[in-house]
Amino acid sequence: MGTLAGKTALVTGGSRGIGRAVVLRLVSEGAKVLFTFAGNQTAADEVVAAGGGEAIAVQAHQGKLADIERLFAAVDERLGGLDILVNNAAANPMGGIADATEADFDEVIAINTKGPFFILQAAVKRLRDGGRIVNLSSSGSTPGLSLYFASKAALDAITAVAARELGSRGITVNGVSPGATETDMMRAAAGDHLEQAVEYVTAQTALGRLGQPEDIADVVAFLAGPDSRWITGQNLRVSGGLAG
Ligand SMILES: NC(=O)c1ccc[n+]([C@@H]2O[C@H](COP(=O)([O-])OP(=O)(O)OC[C@H]3O[C@@H](n4cnc5c(N)ncnc54)[C@H](OP(=O)(O)O)[C@@H]3O)[C@@H](O)[C@H]2O)c1
Repeated sequence: MGTLAGKTALVTGGSRGIGRAVVLRLVSEGAKVLFTFAGNQTAADEVVAAGGGEAIAVQAHQGKLADIERLFAAVDERLGGLDILVNNAAANPMGGIADATEADFDEVIAINTKGPFFILQAAVKRLRDGGRIVNLSSSGSTPGLSLYFASKAALDAITAVAARELGSRGITVNGVSPGATETDMMRAAAGDHLEQAVEYVTAQTALGRLGQPEDIADVVAFLAGPDSRWITGQNLRVSGGLAG
């Protein structure tokens, strides 16, 4: 019997990378998990198959409020109530400040801040007392990622306030900030310099390697489970000791 037997969870962006590992880890702990994906049906189908009947996929673009409404109709129909929300999906387009347009700004904020905020709001209405919310975050000063880090800083503020607002119901709200983790997002951000990026990150990391999605999913599962009951409003760096 896993630590999450009988629990239900919503994980955004569960088709690939960290979200995929989170879905499978929560399922292995006994949870029934509904996860979202943006458009990669093949990857979503593979996670559903790996989830052995306990993982359900719903396509929903989280930058669009109509999609979020449709997502929660599916949550109500397929899960009933909710115990766990993992706000994981995000976009991180690279681009310098000098070239950013209003549309770039609006898109990143819509996907990484507005979407998670309204998903959290809708989830709170369904979360049972003692529930868990984990928001995937990030911070840094890497050139080209100003809008990405700005969107995540806003999410950190939402995490801190939500923890205070929901504490009386025994609901914990925490952030998890991964270090460089081997996913499509990390590979896309490195572009043509993947080899150098991996070498640099490895040298800057106390544990001397790149993170794997499972390194992050194990910590998310802990924060989603009963043993983390006294941790809330925190932003945990899960990075193998990445400097900076
Ligand atoms: N990887 C890292 O090094 C790293 C470091 C720090 C923080 N993080 C954070 O960790 C989280 C997961 O990152 P990752 O590296 O696993 O990302 P990833 O490999 O790019 O996977 C992104 C996932 O989110 C989904 N997604 C993307 N845009 C979406 C949208 N508009 N609506 C709904 N779903 C959407 C994708 O669905 P499709 O498959 O359909 O496209 C996919 O399942 C993010 O919050 C990221 O900021 C990652």
